[in-house]
Amino acid sequence: MKVTLTVNGIRRDADAAPGDSLMDVLRGLGLTSVKNGCDNGDCGSCAVLVDGAAVNACLVFAARSEGKAITTLEGMATEGSLHALQTAMLESGAVQCGFCTPGIVMTAAELLEKNPEPTDREIDEAMAGNFCRCTGYTKPRDAIRSAAEMLREGRR
Ligand code: FES
Ligand code: FES
Repeated sequence: MKVTLTVNGIRRDADAAPGDSLMDVLRGLGLTSVKNGCDNGDCGSCAVLVDGAAVNACLVFAARSEGKAITTLEGMATEGSLHALQTAMLESGAVQCGFCTPGIVMTAAELLEKNPEPTDREIDEAMAGNFCRCTGYTKPRDAIRSAAEMLREGRR
């Protein structure tokens, strides 16, 4: 089966088996930021934006993604500049093993698009589906708050 997607602004054609997920297809296209933490919708490490909404790519059949616009972590930096969320994650020490980091960035990107000045509680609620074994969640929350400030000030 052929699936045609727009991935990070570029039209891509992929081969997919009937049971393949969007995560399988994206990783097959070389987008290895899409991490397989559980393959079951529990951990958030495979989160990507589908038409602007953060979804766990392991739960979406590839066939249901036909024609969709997908953004992965690889598409967040532009013209050699990191996205504010990437910068803030690094500056806040929120990246340790980093396995959860792409999913956190993508889920937080949707949050900040909808809510440019989230409270800590709103951040925690939005990020409740993204598990991290390393950071204790405080540093990622600090990073999201910091990125929100950077974006409000027009900094990337
Ligand atoms: S790999 Fe998709 S939610 Fe864990
Ligand atoms: S930094 Fe290791 S799982 Fe989050």
